Amino acid sequence: MAWQFMRALVWDGKEDFRCETVSDPEIEDPREAIIKVTSCAICGSDLHLFHNFVPAMLPGDIMGHEMMGGVVEVGSGVNGHLKKGDRIVVPFTIICDESEQCKRGNFSVCETTNRKKALAEKMFGHAVTGLFGYTHLTGGHQGGQAEYLRVPFADRTQIKVPDNLTDEQVLFLGDLFPTDWQAAFQCDIEPTDTVAIWGCGPVGQMAICSAILLGAKQVVDIDRLSERPGMADAGGATTINFSEESVIERLNDLTGGKDPQKCIDAVGTESHVSLSMPDTGYDRAKQVMMLENDRPHVLREMIYVCRLAGVISIPGVYSGRVDKIPMGQTMNKGLTWRMGQTHVNRWTDDLLRRIEEGQTDPSLVITRTAALKNGPEMYKMFRDKQNCCITVVLKP
Ligand SMILES: NC(=O)c1ccc[n+]([C@@H]2O[C@H](COP(=O)([O-])OP(=O)(O)OC[C@H]3O[C@@H](n4cnc5c(N)ncnc54)[C@H](O)[C@@H]3O)[C@@H](O)[C@H]2O)c1
Ligand SMILES: [Zn+2]
Repeated sequence: MAWQFMRALVWDGKEDFRCETVSDPEIEDPREAIIKVTSCAICGSDLHLFHNFVPAMLPGDIMGHEMMGGVVEVGSGVNGHLKKGDRIVVPFTIICDESEQCKRGNFSVCETTNRKKALAEKMFGHAVTGLFGYTHLTGGHQGGQAEYLRVPFADRTQIKVPDNLTDEQVLFLGDLFPTDWQAAFQCDIEPTDTVAIWGCGPVGQMAICSAILLGAKQVVDIDRLSERPGMADAGGATTINFSEESVIERLNDLTGGKDPQKCIDAVGTESHVSLSMPDTGYDRAKQVMMLENDRPHVLREMIYVCRLAGVISIPGVYSGRVDKIPMGQTMNKGLTWRMGQTHVNRWTDDLLRRIEEGQTDPSLVITRTAALKNGPEMYKMFRDKQNCCITVVLKP
């Protein structure tokens, strides 16, 4: 091996991420490969770990699930699928491509790749797929905010990318781009639809492009940070600043009194807490007392405002139990709920083609590039949305 020890961003506890020297990864199974990471990104889902809202993280866990690089070693079972020198994006969902769910394209619930099945079954009733750099409920696989990454099931868990596209153009094929695409796709958008998107982070920004590409008549994005709606506006969405105006009234106005047919939650568990949204204070108090895991204000607002027989699409991550969800409203209005971690490889051939054809450019959400060693301060900048930060790419 050319390397012995590497640098990696490590979870040491709540709001305590460090760039540390750790042992290099080694091949443990014939279906694995090692890549030298060339670029990795910080995702909104990493923030839930940063704040310790997701159970079953352990000190020393390596962070990161959006990464790409060059193959430096392959196990004997990967031969024929990958070779040294190949350039790949690594999907954040680890897939075997053989389980019943993989065969149906439900890659984020692959039944094979979670190494901690007993723990996951206890928590979820069934073991969901293995994820990189996430909780031990999803296998405790080490992440890619590091110089090197061991890729399990590397014969399938990979997206080969052509050399004429930059890292920045293709990196988000591993998570962000398929996530917002799936969120919009599962809305079954029709040409008469208004799609309302809560959250103008990278997922919300890219969901605007996806909803427009999928033919929505009107896209409305909701957030409160002034620079984020500004960018959403430029992306083709009408924006609502929820700290300055009533989301419900404005959506009603923008749809001629009929409200949006399709609603996307690109916020998830950490909805902003504000006196003007009293239920968020209630959720926060219950969260502190460990009586509730998540702050589902956005879900309540979407259920209320969504048009009859509409679709609620939830890419935003929730970690556990939520309270005061108005099931009576959602049942009687006949709403359809679609959600889940993203089935990354279901979408990537189509999305790579769209990038190559110039239909969209995911690199537009990158507002900062920094060295891996600056990762801990970049996490804080991304969390606090300082310097108009939308998303950060780290270079190991
Ligand atoms: N399903 C998946 O596979 C998948 C993949 C990637 C990200 N995600 C999830 O998507 C969500 C968004 O990710 P991101 O990277 O864009 O995060 P982000 O933190 O950058 O953005 C979240 C945005 O939501 C806004 N917000 C907070 N409360 C709000 C409210 N009440 N109404 C409207 N906006 C509100 C914040 O101001 C922020 O701009 C996260 O929950 C993340 O975990 C899911
Ligand atoms: Zn992610």
